[in-house]
Amino acid sequence: MVSNILIESAVVLPVDVFCDTLIIGLFEDSLNSEDMSRAYGKPLANLINSIFRDQPECSRFAETSIIYNTTECGAKRIILIGLGTKAKLTLDKIRELSATAIRAAKKLKSRTVATAMYNSDHNLSDAAISIIQGAILGGYEFNNYKTDPKASNVEKMIIVGPDLRNDQHWLNMLEDAKIIADGVNLARDLTNHPSCFMNPSQMAFVARNIASQCGFEINVLDKCDMEKQKMNAMLAVTRGSETPPKLITLKYLGNPQSKELISFVGKGITFDSGGISLKPSEKMGDMKGDMAGGAAVLGAMQAIGHLKPKANILAIIPCSENMPSGHAFKPGDVISSMSGKTIEIISTDAEGRLLLADAITYARKLGATKIVDLATLTGACVVALGNVASGLISNSDDWSQEVIRASKQTGEKVWPLPTFDEYLGQIKSDIADLKNSGGRMAGTITAGLFIKQFVDDLPWVHIDIAGTSDIDKISGYNVKGATGVGVRTLIQLAQNLSTDAC
Ligand code: BES
Ligand code: MN
Ligand code: ZN
Repeated sequence: MVSNILIESAVVLPVDVFCDTLIIGLFEDSLNSEDMSRAYGKPLANLINSIFRDQPECSRFAETSIIYNTTECGAKRIILIGLGTKAKLTLDKIRELSATAIRAAKKLKSRTVATAMYNSDHNLSDAAISIIQGAILGGYEFNNYKTDPKASNVEKMIIVGPDLRNDQHWLNMLEDAKIIADGVNLARDLTNHPSCFMNPSQMAFVARNIASQCGFEINVLDKCDMEKQKMNAMLAVTRGSETPPKLITLKYLGNPQSKELISFVGKGITFDSGGISLKPSEKMGDMKGDMAGGAAVLGAMQAIGHLKPKANILAIIPCSENMPSGHAFKPGDVISSMSGKTIEIISTDAEGRLLLADAITYARKLGATKIVDLATLTGACVVALGNVASGLISNSDDWSQEVIRASKQTGEKVWPLPTFDEYLGQIKSDIADLKNSGGRMAGTITAGLFIKQFVDDLPWVHIDIAGTSDIDKISGYNVKGATGVGVRTLIQLAQNLSTDAC
């Protein structure tokens, strides 16, 4: 579940490190020969300077150029990567550049890759963390089902520079960066697996592994347990499927003195056919990824288990398939949720909110004090925000500011949507308390407001990741397929709570 790439740090000149490929960044502006000589040594600085004079384009953002046959250098070859202008280089851009560079290195079948650190405006630790995360995220490939995987793997990554440190604190920090990226890649794996493998039982199996690795309390409810808990909204969704549902809870107590218990809830629909309100067949296969919210919670929990922030987290992942059959729930049905609220089913394809309703009621029962839920909930969110940002709905300014702060720190963009009471009219039912679809207008908002009815007075943030959880072409440190979005924000949130607790 964790990658076996070795991360090292070398406090030497880049030319003195032995590796297959040395990655060197080059700014478009502020090319200071003195700084360069200091960071790279004179001969290498001269070489780079002459290349830059001859071909300034090589410094444009994300431009890669390969220098073969480097003499008097421990590396077999150098990849020059354009950094663009200094002012525009954010930590997220560093992640992106590192991803581009590592992919170029992988193409050259490099096993050991060193990245030289050069003066940016960011502090060295933050930049080093971004470099490592970018490389592990950008180098990700999903080859589980290829009989002849062509992947070439980078086995060792060395951060190199004369100004670096090599003490335990620095090395731990690099290791933490890897743990976070591994959490994202775990979520990507779970999401990329087809639903014939990644079913609710398999999700529970993965959760059990994480729990035993990290010493979490774990509890997995099966159908009978759900019946005892009267989780009839979740049970309605599962009825059409032959594959047994599971509701996973993991508990991590990193700050036993505190009464705060933050619940991470992730939608775990392992396949969403739409049920009786069947989806069109085109791209229906993509709905194997309708558990990306649950996968993100598992990925985050794996990392949290290793990073051990001072925070208390309760992860809840309701897992089920949504299928049509003679046993399936039907449009027009009225079901009663665990909370007691009744729901008229307008569309069996609006299944995620039904699962989340009961999962959130359960979170409250287990003592959650704040909630963040992640869900691939609405096609409307894809229309509104595309694959650039996730939609955010909340009942608390303070709690949503906390989540937004964490998301900004990680580069995982979220954007808040309004929750005016006027929208509530759309989910009022004539014969029950609520209906599960408010129609096409403001689809993401009405879905969020539906969930809000089950949260009551707890601070709650809902993140709709329908548009951001997978992409159809490579972009920065995300490759085609699942992105593992949300994992880093959840981890960052736990780490921020930890700092606040100190
Ligand atoms: N899982 C889908 C939402 C989705 C759509 C995720 C596209 C990823 C990409 C969800 O269960 C769903 O079907 N939502 C319906 C709700 C509607 C019936 C109110 C939708 O968005 O069409
Ligand atoms: Mn659906
Ligand atoms: Zn769904």
